Amino acid sequence: MSERETWATRAGFILAAVGSAVGLGNIWQFPFKTAQFGGASFLIVYLIAALGIGLPTILAEFVIGRKSNLNTISAFEKLGYKNWRIVGALGLFTGFWILSYYSVVGGWVLRYLGGSVTGAYFGAPAEYFGQISAGMDALVLHAVFMALVIGIVAAGIEDGIEKATKLMVPSIVVILGALAVFAFTLPGASEGYAYFLSPDFGALATNFGDIVPFAVGQAFFSLSLGMGAMITYASYIDGDQSLFGDGITIVFLNSFVGILAGLVVIPLLFAQGIDPNTSGAGAVFISVAGAFGNLPAGRIIGVVFFAVVLIAALSSAISLLEVVVAWAIDNYDVSRPQVATLLGGIIFTLGVPSALDTAWLGWFDTLAYKFFLPIGVLGILIFAAWVYGAPAIDELMKGSGLGDGVGLTWLWLARTLVIVAVVATLALGLQTLFLGENPAIIPPL
Ligand code: TRP
Repeated sequence: MSERETWATRAGFILAAVGSAVGLGNIWQFPFKTAQFGGASFLIVYLIAALGIGLPTILAEFVIGRKSNLNTISAFEKLGYKNWRIVGALGLFTGFWILSYYSVVGGWVLRYLGGSVTGAYFGAPAEYFGQISAGMDALVLHAVFMALVIGIVAAGIEDGIEKATKLMVPSIVVILGALAVFAFTLPGASEGYAYFLSPDFGALATNFGDIVPFAVGQAFFSLSLGMGAMITYASYIDGDQSLFGDGITIVFLNSFVGILAGLVVIPLLFAQGIDPNTSGAGAVFISVAGAFGNLPAGRIIGVVFFAVVLIAALSSAISLLEVVVAWAIDNYDVSRPQVATLLGGIIFTLGVPSALDTAWLGWFDTLAYKFFLPIGVLGILIFAAWVYGAPAIDELMKGSGLGDGVGLTWLWLARTLVIVAVVATLALGLQTLFLGENPAIIPPL
C-alpha cells in the first residue's frame, strides 16, 4: 500500500475542520433557533454547550485520530482496543446516514442558486419550494451535489480537501461578512438585531427543557462530532501541533460563523416584514428566499447568498464522505477515486427516499440528531476518557506547551460532567423517539 496522506500545513488541517463544522447547521438552524429560544440568553447556553461539552469531545476525537493515524474504525484497534471498533463502525454508518439527506438539501441549494439567476422563486417562494424539494428535480440535483462531493474527495487530502477548503472557508467568512454589512443598510434591520440578540430570559426559562438538549445536540452536529469526522481529519495530521489550540480555534470560528449568518438572515427578514419564527427548511428556502424577491438587487444578493450556503454545505459534505473513504483506503487495496465514487453512489441511493419525500428527510435528520450522534459521542468519550485514559492526556498535550493541569482538567471533565450531560441529552432524545403519542422512531411510511 502506498504511504498514507497528510495535510501539507497546520492551517490546512484547521481550515478543513472548520469547513466540516461550518455547514447547513450554522445557516439554516442556528440563527432561527437562537432568535426563537431567547436571543442572547440562548447564545450563552449554546456557547457553554460548545465550550463545555463540544470542546472536550472534539479533543477526544483529535487524540484518537492523531495517535492512531487511522480511520475511525481501525483507530480503536491500533490503540489496542479491538472491541471498541464497534464505536467506529457506528460512526461509519452514521456517515452514510447523514450524508444521504445532507446531499439532498445540498441539491436544493444548487437549485436555488440557479433560481436566483432567473428569479424563478421570486413570485411564489412557498410553491417553488414545494415543487423542487421533492421528486425528480430534487433527485437529479441530489446526484449533482454528490458528484461534486465525490470529485473533491477523489482528488485526495492535500490536493482535494485541503486545497478546496483553503479557498472555501475564507470565502464563507468574507461573503457572509459582506452580506451582513449589506443587511445592516436595510431599513428595519435594527429590529432584527433586537430580535436576534436581545436576551429573553423568560423564553429561556419556559423552554429550558427543550433548549438545553437542543443546544447540546446542535453543538455536536455543528462541530461534526460523534461519527469520526474529526477522528478521520486528525488522523492526517503529521506533527506535534497543539490539539488544544486547534480545538479552541475551530469551536470559536464555528460559533462566529453561526452568529454572522444570523446577522445576515434575521435583519433581512425584518426588513421585509417577514416573521422569522420558523426554522429549518422553510426558513431558509421560503422566508429568506422570499425576501430576495422584494429587494432591489434581489437576484445578485440571492446568487451570492446561495453561493455561500453551497460552499458551506460542500465543505461539510466532503468530511462526511471522507470518513467512509478513509476506512476503505486504509483497509483495502483500492484507489481513492474508485472508492469515493462507489461509496458516494451507495450514499446517493440511500438518499433517494429523502429526495422523493421531505418527510423521509426529516426522519433521517431526527434520528441522526437524537440517536446516532449522541450515542457516537458517548462511545467516543467513554473510550477516550475512561478506557484509554492517561495516554490520551499525553497525546493531547504533545506540542501544546501547556501544563499537565490542562490535560487533567480535560480528562476529568470528560469523565464526569460531559458524560452526564450527554447521557441526559440522549435520554431526552430517546424519550421523544420512543414514547409519547407520536414516537418519532416510526418511519413516515
Ligand atoms: N457540521 C456540519 C453542519 O453544521 C454537518 C456535518 C458535517 C456533520 N460532518 C458531520 C454533522 C459529521 C455530524 C457529524 O452543517
